[in-house]
Amino acid sequence: MAGIVLVGAQWGDEGKGKITDLLADDFDYVVRFQGGNNAGHTVIHGGRTLKLHLIPSGVMYPHITPVIGNGCVIDPAVLLEEMDTLEADGLSTHRLLISCNAHLIMPYHRDLDGASERRLGSLEIGTTRRGIGPAYMDKASRMGLRVQDLTDEHIFMKKVEAALVEKNDILTKVYGLPGHSAEAIAEEYMGYAERIKPHIADTSAVINRALEADQWVFFEGAQGTLLDLDHGTYPFVTSSSPTAGGACTGVGVGPRRIDRVLGIAKAYITRVGSGPFPTELDDIPGGVGEILTRVGGEYGTTTGRQRRCGWYDAVIIRYAVQVSGITDLVVTKLDVLSELDRIKVCVAYEYEGKRYDRLPCHQTVFHHARPVYEELPGWKTDITGCRRFRDLPKAARDYIGFLEDHAEVPVSIIAVGPAREQTILRRWERRP
Ligand code: GDP
Ligand code: IMO
Ligand code: MG
Repeated sequence: MAGIVLVGAQWGDEGKGKITDLLADDFDYVVRFQGGNNAGHTVIHGGRTLKLHLIPSGVMYPHITPVIGNGCVIDPAVLLEEMDTLEADGLSTHRLLISCNAHLIMPYHRDLDGASERRLGSLEIGTTRRGIGPAYMDKASRMGLRVQDLTDEHIFMKKVEAALVEKNDILTKVYGLPGHSAEAIAEEYMGYAERIKPHIADTSAVINRALEADQWVFFEGAQGTLLDLDHGTYPFVTSSSPTAGGACTGVGVGPRRIDRVLGIAKAYITRVGSGPFPTELDDIPGGVGEILTRVGGEYGTTTGRQRRCGWYDAVIIRYAVQVSGITDLVVTKLDVLSELDRIKVCVAYEYEGKRYDRLPCHQTVFHHARPVYEELPGWKTDITGCRRFRDLPKAARDYIGFLEDHAEVPVSIIAVGPAREQTILRRWERRP
């Protein structure tokens, strides 16, 4: 076993940061393969809470090399700020490697993200407004600037000038916003370049060499399956590939390098931003939605927005297992359900008299899908101190068993609190 992928099985914020940090100790490399600073991964390390947006969650361990792969988009100002924060916390970032082929988020990407959301009005996607979508758009339209362009001021300038011909027209004529000057952008980014250059590497070569040498590589996903550009609830998705295939293209490794795919899911489900959500609960005071928000602390790590909360949706998880070839499920925040008398799980949908056991392909069906629930008893006990599966109350074990039956893969890891040690490793052997 050497290549492990961790993907969000829902709409993000499943606890990827915590689980990556927990398992990373056994690994030599932790690699981010997609997304940018739209991600917010919370890691509690030595009593301190760290919010990571770009840097892989394995950065806490001195023996790990954190890597930002080619599939990511990088806002250099945010990256350097994050590095400074970590350094100020006594965590070294000198080992960080950044793919020469990762794309750069430019100031006009942020402007365009905000402007297009404002124009959409009530139809907005609810993006993080960090410039993620516009940066991936430029990548696809072959107009993007890459990390390697930071090493050549002449090329950088030429590419910015070429991009601004179009961007300034859109900003000024379509959105009535000020344009940008190539000189100002170049000056700003060349300032960042000096600090970023020592970290730039051919990360595909580095990771392939490591895997050939039987070193262990952990591919840390951001976002989640239903935010995947191809497989998610389009158009209410992000612009990258958070499913397991994204780890291959986003790092430059072949699929045979992946030994195990961990799919991570909350014991309920949340979503930030717009889009369909069949099991969504109202956040009326004293209601289940309000309890999940309060007990689960469901406020976005990146934007601070309140997350929409709902019952666990087994149809979504089956779908995530399918599109990523998930081998093991990780269930987090089981403790958040401890206040509830009864717990519902969506096992299928209904639409116009028809039952759907699998995620419907057509967005209209998903938008109007009515969840078919099964109800299980709650356990009404504090489980945050449980460390072995058998320590959990029977109702909690039965709940996990129920999720497992519906996912058709084992629940190998269970989290019962935000701290690293608040975890039950059921089917996970530490590296000898
Ligand atoms: P990520 O984006 O997938 O890394 O998840 P976030 O960090 O955005 O959100 C997950 C939140 O839940 C963080 O505040 C974590 O500290 C917290 N968390 C993770 N696992 C658990 C758990 O098992 N129980 C509780 N109560 N909180 C958890
Ligand atoms: P982590 O890695 C939850 C959502 C946004 C919006 C949509 C598109 O912490 O799980 P974008 O800015 O990416 O163009 O926004 O995707 N979104 C996330 N939701 N967790 C995330 O990351 C997210 N990253 C993006 O809220 O609905
Ligand atoms: Mg998050």
